[in-house]
Amino acid sequence: MKLRILLVALAAAGGATAVVAGVLAASDLAGSWQHAARYTARFAFLVFVVVYGASAWHRLAPSAASRFAMRNRRSLGLAFATAHSVHLAALIAFLRARNEVPDVLTLVVGGGAFVTMYVLAATSTDAAVRRLGPSRWKKLHRFGVHYLWFVFAFTYLGRLAEDAVFFAPFAALAVGVFALRLVARRSRGEARPPVVVGAG
Ligand code: HEM
Repeated sequence: MKLRILLVALAAAGGATAVVAGVLAASDLAGSWQHAARYTARFAFLVFVVVYGASAWHRLAPSAASRFAMRNRRSLGLAFATAHSVHLAALIAFLRARNEVPDVLTLVVGGGAFVTMYVLAATSTDAAVRRLGPSRWKKLHRFGVHYLWFVFAFTYLGRLAEDAVFFAPFAALAVGVFALRLVARRSRGEARPPVVVGAG
């Protein structure tokens, strides 16, 4: 429990640092919040990659670090939800500064992703696993993380057209972690290192 609080606090601190860096990066209000929205999404993405890739990483290259990520996946998921909530706050500030409303597609897909993220966060407990049943719980969480991955991947692949060199590492990370999951899936059936299910 203490570790969960620590990870969430670290994520909040990282998100806050991203906001400060963003606000300092531009001289006008809208520009400041636009940078804050960018930097907070980048920070949250890095946390997300660990959550999304933890199982595959542990299956393919087990180590103390991968075991930590695997055991504490739920806590890291909550840390991601915390960090990405800061993105939500920054983008609301940006939209207010611009007096803009996002287009319907962004509202539906991006808004849906936030709703999904909060559903995952709210069901990251042993009690929720028991209530939903392990199979439904797994399906819900698998759907949720893939949906969030899709929004990150779609955003970063789309931004390659804007600045290919800068956004290539982000796009590669998004595609790479998906590929890692595919490879790990294929290797299923081989011996897997022991993992404490339901911890974190
Ligand atoms: C209604 C929902 C959302 C809105 C209105 C929104 C808005 C924004 C804005 C204004 C930016 C800065 C864009 C710029 O550089 O000019 C941004 C960046 C970004 N957002 Fe969101 N966002 C939403 C949801 C999400 C979700 C759910 C995700 C991921 C799961 C996400 C991931 C990103 C990423 C990856 C960036 C690019 C950061 C970068 O430049 O590295 N956004 N978003």
